[in-house]
Amino acid sequence: MNFPQVRLRRLRRTEPLRRMVRETRLEIANLIYPLFVTHGKGVTQAIGAMPRIFRFSVDKLPEEVGEIADLGIPAVLLFGLPEAKDEAGSGAYEPKGVVQEAVRVIKKTRPELVVIVDVCLCEYTSHGHCGVVVNGEIDNDKTLEFLARTAVSLAGAGADIVAPSAMMDGMVAAIRTKLDESGYQRVPIMSYAAKYASAFYGPFREAAECAPHFGDRRSYQMDSANVREALREVEQDIQEGADIIMVKPALPYLDVLSKVRDTFNYPLAAYNVSGEYSMVNAAAENGWIDEKGVVLEIITAIKRAGADMIITYHAKEVARWLTIL
Ligand code: PBG
Repeated sequence: MNFPQVRLRRLRRTEPLRRMVRETRLEIANLIYPLFVTHGKGVTQAIGAMPRIFRFSVDKLPEEVGEIADLGIPAVLLFGLPEAKDEAGSGAYEPKGVVQEAVRVIKKTRPELVVIVDVCLCEYTSHGHCGVVVNGEIDNDKTLEFLARTAVSLAGAGADIVAPSAMMDGMVAAIRTKLDESGYQRVPIMSYAAKYASAFYGPFREAAECAPHFGDRRSYQMDSANVREALREVEQDIQEGADIIMVKPALPYLDVLSKVRDTFNYPLAAYNVSGEYSMVNAAAENGWIDEKGVVLEIITAIKRAGADMIITYHAKEVARWLTIL
């Protein structure tokens, strides 16, 4: 059968019809909201390149996470800005580190919020790299010990999920082993498995003050031209014990998301990163695009490509729009 018997427009004629045949449905339950936690007291600091995103000190978190939880957003992803940085990124695994304190406060105020913690050293090292530096190179194996220590410390503070983002080989296995030895068998690992060296992280590096002071991250994050390698990264992390895998960034890597979805039966997260957020906001503020339309189209596309969970700075707006739809 073909035209004129077949007319695909028949099921597009009215919104109720379109709604019935819609293949992808966004839910608030799909959203994860990133939060930047900074040292000090009484701090709510705007981030220049990311409209409506702030750095909060720990005492300011209850109000913010109250709003997030009231919107029905199930989870937050925490990043920390420590008071001091050093070569070994020790602020990442300090018992009273800024993210450790944030986890305690959030779990106390809104225990139902799933608290995911980024496990990386770049926000805590004086040189801004994701691992320890030996002779000018990022030392893979030495970094593992520090990442594992950070994960255990954050699990101890009450984190529900640890999310290693350093792109070191063997990081998932190192973290799984240390968590299990320390009694945190129940804590899942969400691995930034296919994380690309991306210019789209620019605004985040301002927000988290974690731009590398020399060189770049290309010796550990993936080359944006590769997709087969992403499948190997994911396969490796699954073998090492990852519970959830992630592709990052999202929009320029929908093909990667889709391939990972087709190849592995694991829960899949996508990170709609800072640069993706800032571009949309810049255009919307100029009146060049319709923010709501563009954002919902982007988030739907990320889900359609295969993501179960979407980490996005748009989460609060999306949750509001989905509530009144
Ligand atoms: C830390 C980390 C980065 C992001 C998430 N975790 C920065 C980087 O790798 O340089 C970027 C997130 C974003 O751009 O929103 N390693």
